[in-house]
Amino acid sequence: MAEPNIESILNEKRLFAPSPEFAQQSRFKSSEDYEALYQQAAADPAAFWAELAEKELHWFKKWDTVLDWQPPFAKWFVGGKTNISYNCLDRHLTTWRRNKAALIWEGESGESRTLTYAQLHREVCQIANVLKNLGVKKGDRVGIYMPMVPEAAIAMLACARIGAPHTVIFGGFSAEALKDRLLDAEAKVVITADGGFRKDKVVPLKPAVDQALANNGVPSVENVLVVQRTKEDVLMEPGRDHWWHERQAEASADCPAEEMDSEDMLFILYTSGTTGKPKGVVHTTGGYNLYTHITFQWTFDIKDTDVYWCTADVGWITGHSYIVYGPLSNGATSLMYEGVPRPSNPGCFWDVVQKYGVNIFYTAPTAIRAFIKMGEELPNARDLSSLRLLGTVGEPINPEAWMWYHRVIGGGRCPIVDTWWQTETGGFMITPLPGAISTKPGSATRPFPGILADVVDLEGNPVADNEGGYLVVKHPWPSMMRTVYGNDERYRRTYWEHIPPKDGQYVYFAGDGARRDEDGYFWVMGRVDDVINVSGHRLGTMEIESALVSHPAVAEAAVVGRKDDLKGEDVFAFVTLEGNCKPSDELKEELKRHVVKEIGAIARPGEIRFADALPKTRSGKIIRRFLRNLASGEEVAGDASTMEDQSVLEKLREGA
Ligand code: WT7
Repeated sequence: MAEPNIESILNEKRLFAPSPEFAQQSRFKSSEDYEALYQQAAADPAAFWAELAEKELHWFKKWDTVLDWQPPFAKWFVGGKTNISYNCLDRHLTTWRRNKAALIWEGESGESRTLTYAQLHREVCQIANVLKNLGVKKGDRVGIYMPMVPEAAIAMLACARIGAPHTVIFGGFSAEALKDRLLDAEAKVVITADGGFRKDKVVPLKPAVDQALANNGVPSVENVLVVQRTKEDVLMEPGRDHWWHERQAEASADCPAEEMDSEDMLFILYTSGTTGKPKGVVHTTGGYNLYTHITFQWTFDIKDTDVYWCTADVGWITGHSYIVYGPLSNGATSLMYEGVPRPSNPGCFWDVVQKYGVNIFYTAPTAIRAFIKMGEELPNARDLSSLRLLGTVGEPINPEAWMWYHRVIGGGRCPIVDTWWQTETGGFMITPLPGAISTKPGSATRPFPGILADVVDLEGNPVADNEGGYLVVKHPWPSMMRTVYGNDERYRRTYWEHIPPKDGQYVYFAGDGARRDEDGYFWVMGRVDDVINVSGHRLGTMEIESALVSHPAVAEAAVVGRKDDLKGEDVFAFVTLEGNCKPSDELKEELKRHVVKEIGAIARPGEIRFADALPKTRSGKIIRRFLRNLASGEEVAGDASTMEDQSVLEKLREGA
């Protein structure tokens, strides 16, 4: 386990109070409001959540037990019956929101579409019926491999409506990665598109699905539903492949939402961990619905007049919780944008803000650093005065980027919510309530009410203020992951056993280093395990190593993160070659391409260094700490005497 490094942000002392105008109109207006709420929730978390669940969601049948906690397995609202698609759609139809914009979609090349709640409901019902007609039953898993088009959200809601857990696979993943995930989930149907548009290019998606399914590669898949987006020629296998628009046209728009058990699985989302195989994070219905609903409402202090825009892709948890489920459950207007800043249109984000009068903008630090590089002229040339609140997620934000975001994008008037959370947590865990909590650049501030977060050492003892430690959560919360799909043991080992339970009290280990300052503010310092964060994308170093060693030229590979000004971290791979293979620049390029093929472009190594041998302990474990030092060009820190062969380090340095 790596030690958290706290030096970089120990000296950040700036404090930004919400303006009186902002505080005055928000749900929680002062730090006293927050403290009172926090104390009330902490005193009896189950009662706190039960009250909210009753008030905020529709239940076909109320639960019998709020929380059944048999560590590390939690069940929330046990016995309750609900449906998240009902909560996101049907219940708004009997109100004035019926004709309010639910989704605003802006395509990369300027086309756009708005779906009101009534329209979205109709399409979701149709696609739910299409899935039923394809034989999908409650409990069957459906893979979704889509570009950023409204059909991605429609597909998710249609699955939720009939109780078929979805597993969305980011459209940037390769055919190989897609196949692994479809196999693990044993998906029955795959929903995809012919392709997508990205940076003025066509990304083929259906061909990747064909490749994943070739030679009965995923035996569970019976049907493929294909959205026509790019109109490129694609192969349609008779009997297996169906056009979305043709099927939709024949489908009835009448599809009542299935009454789901609160603990029925809503979705599986794969994320990288410390071993080679990605884990299927399982989320269930009631608790996830409540938690994403209330965190969205309070953290973004959402108003019915707001246009809210989260720039994430629906393939990640941020897209699930804060483009689709959280916003729609609240009856909010959620903007979906297909494009990304690109040389042909570097100011496109600000065009979108101006065009729709976006009020709340939520993005990642890596994007902010890219904006800084592109210059202030781009945002300054647009009218961004509609913005009232900004958010960030995905990695620690460096104070310089925070200040720029605040000044240039927020015009100095918008609070910034720095939201710390994970695929596993389902929703925001540490974040300001923007009218109540003063912010500090680089700090996610205080835990959300009901979240008992702490910073501890490896024995589970709380560390002193401003000392580095491990971020943990000491009480279950409604949207916590329930297990790793098909692997309860891995769930237990990964999250609940790094810090041994004390007196029967289990603590959730997040895998992040953190410190808490004298004001109770949390500063998250990044991963302490073998997970790296490249442009806000989470990658397992072992996953990339397995990809590398699957190439015939590679004998052994060790991957570490190297600090990168733009991406946060970059992939740095040390590789030893099979006996008769010679190092060359061509081989480096080939290996990079190989990783892209095995995983996807997000995992492409920034640098590969060939080595004769890797530094290992006497028992044969690779010493990654040294490799991290070498990758960033630092002196190798710490004791090298445990190393088997001292000359290895010398050679690695020379290889630079
Ligand atoms: C990891 C989770 C949750 C949505 C996006 C990523 C890092 C996330 C922050 C933040 C510092 C952050 C952590 C965490 N992270 N948000 N505001 N400040 N670090 O989800 O792919 O599951 O990754 O992202 O290291 O453990 P994810």
